[in-house]
Amino acid sequence: MAAQDLSAWGPFAVSAGALEIATELVQALTGRGAQADLLGDSVQGVQTVIVTEGLSHLPVTERHWQVLDICKRLYASGARIVILEHAGAGGFAQLCGLKGLSRTLRQEWPDRSIVTWSLPAGVTLNAQAELVLAAVASNAPEADLDAAGTSVMEIGAAPGLVQAAPTDANVWFVPGGARGVTAACVSELARRQAGSTFILAGRSGITPWPEGLQPTSDVKLVRGALISAAKARGEKPALPSIDRQARALLTGQEIRHTLDVIAAAGAGAVYLQVDMSNRDSVLAAVQKITAECGPITGLVHGAGVLADGLALKKTREDVEYVFGPKVEGLANLIAAIDLSQLRHVGLFSSASAVFGNTGQSDYAMANAWLGAVARKLATQLPAAIVKSFCWGPWDGGMVDATLAGHFATRGISLIGLQDGARIFADQILQGDRQEIELLIGDEWAG
Ligand SMILES: NC(=O)c1ccc[n+]([C@@H]2O[C@H](COP(=O)([O-])OP(=O)(O)OC[C@H]3O[C@@H](n4cnc5c(N)ncnc54)[C@H](OP(=O)(O)O)[C@@H]3O)[C@@H](O)[C@H]2O)c1
Repeated sequence: MAAQDLSAWGPFAVSAGALEIATELVQALTGRGAQADLLGDSVQGVQTVIVTEGLSHLPVTERHWQVLDICKRLYASGARIVILEHAGAGGFAQLCGLKGLSRTLRQEWPDRSIVTWSLPAGVTLNAQAELVLAAVASNAPEADLDAAGTSVMEIGAAPGLVQAAPTDANVWFVPGGARGVTAACVSELARRQAGSTFILAGRSGITPWPEGLQPTSDVKLVRGALISAAKARGEKPALPSIDRQARALLTGQEIRHTLDVIAAAGAGAVYLQVDMSNRDSVLAAVQKITAECGPITGLVHGAGVLADGLALKKTREDVEYVFGPKVEGLANLIAAIDLSQLRHVGLFSSASAVFGNTGQSDYAMANAWLGAVARKLATQLPAAIVKSFCWGPWDGGMVDATLAGHFATRGISLIGLQDGARIFADQILQGDRQEIELLIGDEWAG
């Protein structure tokens, strides 16, 4: 490779998160006549920054936060940002969802150049550095860099069904499955697998519905009833407390409803109060399920939360909050479950992992990480059906009226509860094992 191929992109700075590869890159770049150094406090004059924190051995949430934090710091400099991550090397803990970050940052910072390149497993540091240099020189787009050159990862659209409908019964563990869109999905699953047991989990308790209050899903009506009841008792109702109580009642009602629907389909339905981000609680839940129901053979991971906000304003706490249920939750499940027993795995990811989404840098990373986990699980469990469902927005769950309005102005249609649940049940029971990441819904423009 000629030195002039690189000069257009220098001077370079390489962040020291993964010091070995960072040093190798600096040496390789300077060896080709380019100006390069480890990233210091000042980025003045630097044209391209290569970020290596994604390759470090930091815990998964911290690793993603550090990459985002460096990108925030680099924004003002205008430097081209190249983020490196592993493509499936090492254990689950080493996996990355950093393409979700670069895809989002390209939307939030349209005048900046940001790409993520995944480095292949099983090649030397020197070979990794050579791949990066070649990608720099050719101004490669977002890609998996492999020894054969640059390959852009394709995500399959929802394919047809190739397996026969299974007749066996499963023990399904479904974090996040008592409410929202996952509840609609497991309810459909229960209709098709009535012999199965569904253990749903969430943080919320099942608050009993007050006697005399007509069932309703209207929070204003519930608040009104609670205020009247408080006044009747001679109390002065505090509105924040009333609101909390009303929401807890509606949550309890939603959980009970999901359990009822599953039971009405003939399947077993149990709810466990578990915070998925707490490793000990997840382990205790898995042990309890295994002892009482047998090994978990179906896993559906639907637990997730949002903390939308622009990347420049993101804090470590935001990333920890979003990664807690989704990423740490799944990592806890992987550590606790006997993976060899799994026959069906469905991870609830988002189209934001595929396209990025303004305001969702943390969420897009977390969901892209689910995709990486699904790909790894699928290679480890060749007899199981493993799917990462990259859902577009649903008409329900965490998509409130405001979010639905944003999607409507972008011409993105919402996935109906029945349609989404049918696609989910078809795919997790009868989908093609080769199709692991499924994009469901409209394509999103930037
Ligand atoms: N709705 C959509 O349009 C859409 C689109 C793409 C992807 N998704 C994904 O689909 C999944 C379900 O979304 P949804 O719209 O149904 O959201 P939702 O209505 O807000 O439900 C989220 C579920 O996750 C549970 N959860 C959150 N944090 C938890 C924790 N720390 N431990 C255990 N459970 C936890 C919640 O229960 P508790 O509050 O009781 O803990 C709730 O059951 C999410 O992973 C989301 O990212 C949704």
